[in-house]
Amino acid sequence: MTGVDVRAFTVGPVAENSYILRAADGSSSRALIVDPGDEPQRLLAAVEALGVELEAILVTHCHFDHIGAVAPVAEASGAPVYCPSIEQPVLADVMRWVPPGFGPFESYEADHVLSGGERLSLAGLDIEVIFTPGHSPGHLTYAISAAGSPPALLSGDVLFQGSVGRVDLPGGDWPTLERSIGGLLEAFADETVVYPGHMGVTTLGRERATNPFLRELVIEKAPSHRAG
Ligand SMILES: [Fe+2]
Repeated sequence: MTGVDVRAFTVGPVAENSYILRAADGSSSRALIVDPGDEPQRLLAAVEALGVELEAILVTHCHFDHIGAVAPVAEASGAPVYCPSIEQPVLADVMRWVPPGFGPFESYEADHVLSGGERLSLAGLDIEVIFTPGHSPGHLTYAISAAGSPPALLSGDVLFQGSVGRVDLPGGDWPTLERSIGGLLEAFADETVVYPGHMGVTTLGRERATNPFLRELVIEKAPSHRAG
């Protein structure tokens, strides 16, 4: 139990996970959405069905499958968009970067840019912004908690159940991604729930123990936890 109510919606042709989050105690009628990647009408209908107002749209990185619905969701909800600073030009000119056969998607000028290290308070939730490059050059992970509860990690395409983000796209780099994942393992407890951009929910501890891509990291680093 993280203190955060997280709803997952798998959208689009490459099964990307969009997440709607709000405080789990029902005290807030406000919510966040992370990576609205496609199917904007479905995501907006889900927001309405939950009876919440969107207060912010957070983007982990600007691959098309994570940002395809940013513009229509922002326009319909009025919620500001928070985007990785380095990747903002991609959001602002989406179709230039989309492989043939996908889209069309609408571009959007981010309302706020983030580089990692920021702390935000949005929709009654506390958000720590962590720079986790390697899958893409500006990739961010959001550690989201409510009222001092342990954080949940919205990790985009950094870490998956039994896998890791691909590093063969422009700006990808395995040693960099490995360092980013190592940083998350070092900073957060094993029980920390990970909501990835593709496939199912996992925990840092499960990946530390079983993810074949993390073997070198596990040998190099002794686990350490931090409070909260
Ligand atoms: Fe990606």
